[in-house]
Amino acid sequence: MRLSYGRMFADKLDGQHGISRPRLADLVQRFPAVLAEVEGRRQQGEYGFYGLGDQGEVVRGIRKFADGVGQAYDHVLVLGIGGSALGMKTLLSALKPPAWNELSDEAREYFPRITILENVDPASIAAALQRIDPRRVFVNVISKSGGTAETAAQYLVVRAWLDQALGPDAAVRHLAFTTDPTKGPLRELATREGIAALAVPPEVGGRFSVLTPVGLLPAALIGIDIERLIQGARRALDEATRPELTKNPAGLYSALLWAADAWLGARVHVMMPYTDRLRDFAAWFVQLWAESLGKRSDRRGQPIFSGPTPLPAVGATDQHSQVQLFMEGPFDKVVTMVRVDEMEDVRIPHRGGLPEELAYLQGHTLGELLNAEQEATAAALSRMGRMNATIELPRLDAEVIGELIMFMQLATGFAGVWYGVNPFDQPGVELGKRLTFAAMGRPGFSREGSITLDPSLPGDLVGS
Ligand code: PA5
Repeated sequence: MRLSYGRMFADKLDGQHGISRPRLADLVQRFPAVLAEVEGRRQQGEYGFYGLGDQGEVVRGIRKFADGVGQAYDHVLVLGIGGSALGMKTLLSALKPPAWNELSDEAREYFPRITILENVDPASIAAALQRIDPRRVFVNVISKSGGTAETAAQYLVVRAWLDQALGPDAAVRHLAFTTDPTKGPLRELATREGIAALAVPPEVGGRFSVLTPVGLLPAALIGIDIERLIQGARRALDEATRPELTKNPAGLYSALLWAADAWLGARVHVMMPYTDRLRDFAAWFVQLWAESLGKRSDRRGQPIFSGPTPLPAVGATDQHSQVQLFMEGPFDKVVTMVRVDEMEDVRIPHRGGLPEELAYLQGHTLGELLNAEQEATAAALSRMGRMNATIELPRLDAEVIGELIMFMQLATGFAGVWYGVNPFDQPGVELGKRLTFAAMGRPGFSREGSITLDPSLPGDLVGS
């Protein structure tokens, strides 16, 4: 993969907006200190995802497990949320044909169908359980902490459904937990009931965990080449050690996005792949960037209330929607496009008697149109003075996706240093969790004094 970043600079835009080219030297000069901070923090046990390029044994173990299980079941049901679901959704849509579950057994090469439940919306869960045959399902419950309310609730519903259909003893054979290696409620249940359990490395945070058993097991079950995913990740990791910023793609990407925000107020970071198959990747990026960088305090505990706002978009669809805002709205955005050079393509057929306004499309391919739209939009944004960058992928395969995922994780890790925040915690989501626990009656979580769940004074409600 390559990063095309010239259009972040004023000299490639309208001359007035964008980063002034000489200021790249500031970033280049500061980068060795950024690298050194990452290295220092790695020594102290942070940045655990750097170890994911070297997982031969884990990958072999998962392969073996998947090969055994893969024969026995024809539907994989994944239960998880946030970092325990978004990564696998990305792998599924990027690396398997669209509408995977609708394909015949033969077209799926006899790999199972897959459903990823990432919410507690009763409608989605009820519909999934009506559709899936409990005798033929393998359920992978994924929670690093093992105590996330949504995943626990999903599990209890699914477990009762399995028990009822198969009996509790047989149900156990349809389950695997992916959780902390030693602690947490799921680990405890696995040990007590003899449920298969895979380990999430404790040093790897949830949103950085797709290339651990969190994503690797379901991916292997549906026939994704997990060795090649890791191989791609290794390439991104190798490149990320280069001290020269302009030779370090993840370092440079993080530096430019940070500079756009810090120096020019471009705090909306749009992720816009030009393919439906990376729509879920954009959602995964949103979580990674937002939860890692949106922080109230810096590393020293000083209030900063910082963090870019990531925004997902999809080309060409959003050219008829959000792009109007990106072109003419406030100068507060950077648009990252992702294009794929080689794709399975469809030729637009010739058809007699077409009006001139349509006839020009004949003989081209849909892929050509998509990529022409990407280039045209990048050029148009530039002419309007809008910073943009393009990630160029040669094709969508496991190696390229492994590299893309690791590239973004590395960029996020570097961005933590540029922004001066800890990219691996998420203290801001804790209060909401505690209030939910209180509302649901979890022992030890009483309603917190000054905080009320009911915002309405008489008169503060509208509607019938
Ligand atoms: O990135 C994170 O840490 C979070 O988004 C978690 O992935 C999410 O909260 C789910 O947590 P868990 O895997 O512990 O159930």
